[in-house]
Amino acid sequence: MSIQRRPVAVVTGASSGLGRGFAIRLAARGYDLVVVARRRARLEELALELRAEHGVAVLPLSCDLARPGAPARIAQQLADSDIRVDALVNCAGFGTAGHFAAEDPDRVEQEIAVDVTAPTLLARLLLPDLMRSPHGLLLMVSSTASHQPVPSLAVYAACKAYVTSLSAAIWQETRGSGLRVLALCPGPTDTEFFEAAGSDRFKVGRVAGVDEVLDAAFRVIDESDAPVVTVGLRNRVQALAAKIAPLRVSLALSERATGGKVPVSA
Ligand SMILES: NC(=O)c1ccc[n+]([C@@H]2O[C@H](COP(=O)([O-])OP(=O)(O)OC[C@H]3O[C@@H](n4cnc5c(N)ncnc54)[C@H](OP(=O)(O)O)[C@@H]3O)[C@@H](O)[C@H]2O)c1
Repeated sequence: MSIQRRPVAVVTGASSGLGRGFAIRLAARGYDLVVVARRRARLEELALELRAEHGVAVLPLSCDLARPGAPARIAQQLADSDIRVDALVNCAGFGTAGHFAAEDPDRVEQEIAVDVTAPTLLARLLLPDLMRSPHGLLLMVSSTASHQPVPSLAVYAACKAYVTSLSAAIWQETRGSGLRVLALCPGPTDTEFFEAAGSDRFKVGRVAGVDEVLDAAFRVIDESDAPVVTVGLRNRVQALAAKIAPLRVSLALSERATGGKVPVSA
């Protein structure tokens, strides 16, 4: 990827689910890609597919975003390869579930590193490139879990609340610069997410298909300058209800939705 003719998108979490979908859609739109995740074989397979189908350049970067310093190493690798980034899709993420008192502290640390620290630092480190680009796009994949605290998904919901909040503030700060900033808030979506979480507590309501979520994201990117999009009418109604309901009511409802009260054992 030495001679840069096309815009370049960095997509994290591209080995599966929504991230893989974003990489395919962006390749179809003529972006060269840097695809990031841990599973190298999946990234290489995707790279072969995208090169063959869309004639774009693809650089697979196998990286554990839970490791300290990972975002800085990615930014350095891009700079060393003279790659200027036009679009960043911060999609890598996972969730832990269960009563907070029973959570594995090491897993929680990784969750915060992947869901909060990595997207924050990647956005910060690549922002100068994104702002210089005529196609600048910063897409932060958040969740409907970001709209209210969620008992049994306490850390995940708090991480995603941070992502939506950060993204909306960057949207305001960069308004008028030409950079498109969007927090995408899907509800449950049919990916490997539930398997990775090892829990069905995330399956609250209807499970959407990946294409439905991607269609919603690109519709908003192409047709509006909204800072946040919640995917699906039912999810938008729930987000509004969570905003106006008293906190105790919202907490009780989200506790029921994620499987009811868990006995306090710690
Ligand atoms: N599916 C849902 O119901 C849902 C709903 C709302 C929001 N979301 C959000 O959507 C995003 C994408 O999730 P998905 O649904 O597409 O799930 P997925 O199919 O499990 O994909 C998760 C991606 O994140 C990557 N990832 C996880 N841990 C990583 C690490 N330590 N270092 C680098 N990459 C890592 C995975 O790659 P490797 O395993 O190869 O590293 C994979 O590519 C996440 O941010 C998630 O929170 C999902």
